[in-house]
Amino acid sequence: EPVELMARFDARIDADGRIEPQDWMPEAYRKTLVRQISQHAHSEIVGMLPEGNWISRAPSLKRKAILIAKVQDEGGHGLYLYSAAETLGTSRDQMLDGLHSGKAKYSSIFNYPTLSWADVGVIGWLVDGAAIMNQVPLCRCSYGPYARAMVRVCKEESFHQRQGYEALLVMMQGTEEQKAMVQDAVNRYWWKCLAMFGPPDADSPNSVQGMRWGIKRISNDDLRQKFVDATVPQAKVLGVTLPDPDLKWNEERGHYDYGQIDWDEFWQTVNGNGPCNKERLSTRVKAHHDGQWVRDAALAHARKQQQRAMK
Ligand code: ACO
Repeated sequence: EPVELMARFDARIDADGRIEPQDWMPEAYRKTLVRQISQHAHSEIVGMLPEGNWISRAPSLKRKAILIAKVQDEGGHGLYLYSAAETLGTSRDQMLDGLHSGKAKYSSIFNYPTLSWADVGVIGWLVDGAAIMNQVPLCRCSYGPYARAMVRVCKEESFHQRQGYEALLVMMQGTEEQKAMVQDAVNRYWWKCLAMFGPPDADSPNSVQGMRWGIKRISNDDLRQKFVDATVPQAKVLGVTLPDPDLKWNEERGHYDYGQIDWDEFWQTVNGNGPCNKERLSTRVKAHHDGQWVRDAALAHARKQQQRAMK
């Protein structure tokens, strides 16, 4: 690779400058971005499924309207991210092939079932809360299109987080059954949310290079700690218990200590063997096939318009 171009690229990264699509970049930088954006985009798209499951069963018109809007937002986030990947030379078709063939990753968290209405609230509060923690630093990512997409994504995610927390606050003022439902959802989701941030720094193969290139700004473990520290007081206000006997304030560190995450279970899920992996993927593939006629019609229409414009 041309030494001069490489030196210019490194200097831009060192100066905390942005890399834009037309700029020269090392192949490895491009590949890392495509990998991370692919994982991220697919997470948004597959992330529509666990909650989409509850649209027809939302407890009121208001909750239903909110949930539909939120699930649509997630679809939009996926589309911005597919566009960001296109600026790196990877088409949406290539990305979708990766997802549908089971080769591409998406977040582990979406392979768990949504068993009750409280799960929808907990996904907003904890899953979207974790996503924001991870995505706010990505607004400062060195690759321009990814960073800019994240600004809008984070604004929308923050609405998602609040609607979830508010739904839970209402349930916690309800009947004993409703409170128990919230606690049960928190018990099932807490540890999975901590794992969302990815493996511990020492076992994270992509972290060092991702940080060097200014793609990742804060490490997996540091983000996880920030999430725990921010969430404990929210759990207190809500009146739920976080299911970790080792969770305690550590005066010396100025952070909460927490227990051991089950990494075996995490890798099982990441590698396709979680409770809902097969169901999520087959739902996604079926939706893609069912939508083929829409894509065909849109293409035929675009072609017709083009021909008319040429006459
Ligand atoms: N679920 C599935 N796979 C994961 C997860 C997870 N929770 N965490 C890490 N991995 C994968 C990584 O993608 C990587 O696999 P790959 O090399 O095949 O891509 C492998 O595990 C090792 O992890 P790291 O070396 O730590 O990978 P990386 O430096 O990319 O960090 C992280 C992982 C933090 C998830 C990063 O990719 C990231 O910030 N992505 C953007 C945000 C995102 O994807 N959010 C989606 C979840 S939430 C939502 O969108 C609503």
